[in-house]
Amino acid sequence: MCGIVAYTGQQAVLPILLDGLKQLEYRGYDSAGVSVISRKRLKTVKAAGKLHNLEAKVDAKTNSHCGIGHTRWATHGAPTDENAHPHNDPSQRFAIVHNGIIENVDALKTSLGKSVEYTSETDSEVIAHLLAAQEGELLDAVRAVLVQLVGTYGLAVIDQQNPTTLVVARNGSPVILGIGDGEMFAASDMSAMIRHTNQVVHLDDGEIAELTPEGFKVVRMDSSVASKEAITLNEQHAHYDRGGHDHFLYREIVDQPISIGQTLSGRFDKRFSTAHLGGLNLEARDLIGIKRITILGCGSALFAGMAGANMIESLARIPVIAEPAAEFRYRNPVIEKDTLYVVVSQSGETFDTLAALREVRRKGGFVLGIVNSVGSTIAREVDGGIYMHAGPEVSVASTKAYTSMLVAFSLLALLLGRSRDLSPQQGTRFINELKLLPEQVEQVLKLEPEIKEIAEQYKKSQSAFFIGRTHGFPIALEGAQKLKEISYIHAEAYPASELKHGPLALVTKKTPCFVVLPNDDLLQKTISSMEEIKARGGPVIAITSAPHKAAPRIKSLAQSVLRVPDAGELTQPVLMAVVFQLLAYHSAVSLGRDVDQPRNLAKSVTVE
Ligand code: AGP
Repeated sequence: MCGIVAYTGQQAVLPILLDGLKQLEYRGYDSAGVSVISRKRLKTVKAAGKLHNLEAKVDAKTNSHCGIGHTRWATHGAPTDENAHPHNDPSQRFAIVHNGIIENVDALKTSLGKSVEYTSETDSEVIAHLLAAQEGELLDAVRAVLVQLVGTYGLAVIDQQNPTTLVVARNGSPVILGIGDGEMFAASDMSAMIRHTNQVVHLDDGEIAELTPEGFKVVRMDSSVASKEAITLNEQHAHYDRGGHDHFLYREIVDQPISIGQTLSGRFDKRFSTAHLGGLNLEARDLIGIKRITILGCGSALFAGMAGANMIESLARIPVIAEPAAEFRYRNPVIEKDTLYVVVSQSGETFDTLAALREVRRKGGFVLGIVNSVGSTIAREVDGGIYMHAGPEVSVASTKAYTSMLVAFSLLALLLGRSRDLSPQQGTRFINELKLLPEQVEQVLKLEPEIKEIAEQYKKSQSAFFIGRTHGFPIALEGAQKLKEISYIHAEAYPASELKHGPLALVTKKTPCFVVLPNDDLLQKTISSMEEIKARGGPVIAITSAPHKAAPRIKSLAQSVLRVPDAGELTQPVLMAVVFQLLAYHSAVSLGRDVDQPRNLAKSVTVE
């Protein structure tokens, strides 16, 4: 989604804004701009396209210490210089940057009258014109405008007549304040200011903040003062660079032994062979009262939820369903008090997942969050939760967060299982399987040269299939998701048993079929699915932990065999997922795709 960065203080503002926008570029954008106050005059520069187009237009020598910047992912109006933010009022007194959608923009333009001339096709520009029509202090003027808006906003405003003041506001689109020494920052995402501060304050919906170099004040829409606690983030800005690799995505893939270890760290209770999860806000008696679980998420988070459902149902024998968060609220769901709801989200800002969470809580349901971004909106609105601690995930395609979601679900499954029939020995065995994961992922990463060859071999395919059974099917879904979203090769996932009921019609010698083939009770049945594919001439690539005695048969059916460590039934999916991440990565690189910012996609979809 769009990105916002703002600063007021003693430093030169332009380098801070441009560096902040650079950190935000992974979120996806098609134009960018900055507005600064220099010698009491507003200067605005905007450019369509990549950030370097803006950098080429900006006068780096501009002497200014207060300003705002924006990267735009077009919703209203094409990506042009005119439609880029910031937007100014006709007198060039105010500059605004806006994330979100103003639903009543037409009514607002009508209220402003026909004499007003607009320079853009955007809905956001109307805010600057409404501001120009207000009287009084900047903070009051912004509030008077916001009460007129219907829709969502993350907003930052500067005013030529208040050359060191920023006003920012949020309703449905994140805004974070960064506290410095004699300076203040604001941004839509921590990555834009982590180089300058780790003391942050998250605004909540309906809050407006006035920032000066001396500090900040937060008020609500009724002008009452909101007291806000600053939190210290332990993320280092080092996470926001590529670590010497070509892409964030590659770094995040190879970091998984570390990120999985971080998700597991401190979360084993050896005495009772269970998981120690401190933030659930659920007592033991609450756990045994849970009769069913509903997991809600979007995209890869949904696929992680499907895998999590299998884990919990296996260990805790509780019925679990995972469903798309985006559809949930529209089916008027029945919310039950003995159902545990779990929302899963890397960013903690996905609008559809947040909306589903709010629907459950509005009807009295209890919601846990499995979230990566500390202090994010979802993390602050759930009743309890599990932080993934995977570290910031910058690349649009989710990799380390996805596997950390699986690990977080495995810990939840262990806790629920041990509150029911799972024995101490079974609990200990599962803990030992989880402890092996970081090393096993290291082993999988060593397959990279073979995976790269396979990617090269099939990169020209028009279509690819991913198939798996039971625990393997959600991994197949995620494998297809990864390949399609970064290499743009069409890919579909099916339960292996489903092929013969239709999809097999599409299998030709040009349709590579990636088969999730774990060493489980269904091994022979999945091998039969491979035979169906081979009989139609389809190339089969087997990703397997099958025992060596099955190797000859598998080798006779598959063009390629990738052998992964034989992990436990419930941890095996993590290893398979890493194989597919590398496959997608090398396919995309070989095809020259924009690996970290795939076309049409954004890292955090904060609009409906
Ligand atoms: C995954 O590769 C995609 N970037 C996308 O499907 C993502 O998982 C989805 O948008 C949910 O995002 P979230 O985890 O931040 O809620």
